Amino acid sequence: MEGILFPRGVVEGREGLEDYLARGGYRALEKALKGQDPETIVQEIGESGLRGRGGAGFPTGKKLAITRECVEQPHYVVLNGGEDEPGSKKDRLLMENLPHLVIEGLILAAYAVGAEKAYLYINREYQAATQSMAGGLAEAREAGYWGGHLLGSDYSLELLLISAPPNYVAGEDTAALEVIEGREPLPRQKPPFPAAAGLFAKPTAVNNVETLANLAPIIARGAKWYRTFGTEQSPGTMIFSLNEEVNRPGIYELPFGTSLRFLIEDCGGGIRDGKTIKAILPGGPSTAFLPSDRIDISLDHRSVLEAGSSIGCGVVHLVTEGECMVEETLRIAEFFSRESCGQCPACRMETNMLAAILKKVQQGQGGEALLEQFSKVIDFNKGKGFCSLINMPGPPIESALRLFRADFEAHLATGRCLNN
Ligand SMILES: Cc1cc2nc3c(=O)[nH]c(=O)nc-3n(C[C@H](O)[C@H](O)[C@H](O)COP(=O)(O)O)c2cc1C
Repeated sequence: MEGILFPRGVVEGREGLEDYLARGGYRALEKALKGQDPETIVQEIGESGLRGRGGAGFPTGKKLAITRECVEQPHYVVLNGGEDEPGSKKDRLLMENLPHLVIEGLILAAYAVGAEKAYLYINREYQAATQSMAGGLAEAREAGYWGGHLLGSDYSLELLLISAPPNYVAGEDTAALEVIEGREPLPRQKPPFPAAAGLFAKPTAVNNVETLANLAPIIARGAKWYRTFGTEQSPGTMIFSLNEEVNRPGIYELPFGTSLRFLIEDCGGGIRDGKTIKAILPGGPSTAFLPSDRIDISLDHRSVLEAGSSIGCGVVHLVTEGECMVEETLRIAEFFSRESCGQCPACRMETNMLAAILKKVQQGQGGEALLEQFSKVIDFNKGKGFCSLINMPGPPIESALRLFRADFEAHLATGRCLNN
């Protein structure tokens, strides 16, 4: 079974059914169907401490338990393969290279919540991933791992592939449900949350691809084994993405609790061109910047939260010395302004305003009073949208301003970056 938990060793090329079976694949499903009731599966996942890898870190066992316990029928499971977070490639690579690991996780989740149907919602721009998963589905069906009476049991499951629009909001769980129901990717107001009232208003567990890729190893080897990796509150491993700022961009799966320095220096080969770090964005564009002296921070949910940021979905972005935080935050604000679906007036107004204020700062228009506007706009709109996109631009902008005010003051005074 070695290698299942650590895809790093096996991500070179696509793993077909034969190779997956040869290293213990589908053994977890056989074990579950032949000897464990669904409650035991949910309990085991709960005990493993697995937390969602889609960004929020919600306990997976808890989500499956909520769906499972709903009396309303039928129940559904959705694999969320939207992955439009800038710089994130982990879900796409898992689907391209380890389709059966992902499919087995999805089937286990469906069995655990008592779903008769599960959907694979995959970004339509990821053609290799879609093809790989479609091929995996065909191989797995042929072998009896899904369809009618799985492996001769009483349980039957239908799996359906859905093409997801390639925009950021389409990855939000309720927007995904809208698409599956045949509508535009517009988030729904919550509550109710999908776990209790999701697809066609029925209980639905929506899970990230990487999250589901953890289920087979957990069921095959047990929660106790899983907890031998990572920390008490963040057990297991997480796949981190590094991009062009380092010498070896790529995805790296590491146990939670590994230091950020190890990820950057040992995995990523250090910063390109021997540059030094100015700021760290530890979990993607919606997380707060950390100063460079936090490079030894432990990569786990609690440590990053205590440092004032969040681990998000593991895309680590590094700003190097000489780069300007006004330009950085403007790029982020423009991203959210572009990606806001426009459904909620508060989100449209907030994201547009933040980008416009930053543009003014960049061009040196207006006095220091402009810098006080950010928090006012952010605080006024907090929580006023159907989804959390409205809360996303706040942390990077407010932290950049707090940590690197001189960059903003220089732009206001001269219309240029501090170092130019
Ligand atoms: C704007 C927005 C975009 C999102 N995009 C994705 C995505 O592409 N993939 C994903 O798994 N979760 C995404 N999420 C989070 C999902 O709403 C949801 O929390 C996640 O799929 C739950 O899976 P998990 O519990 O396994 O993390 C997004 C959330 C928001 C607010």
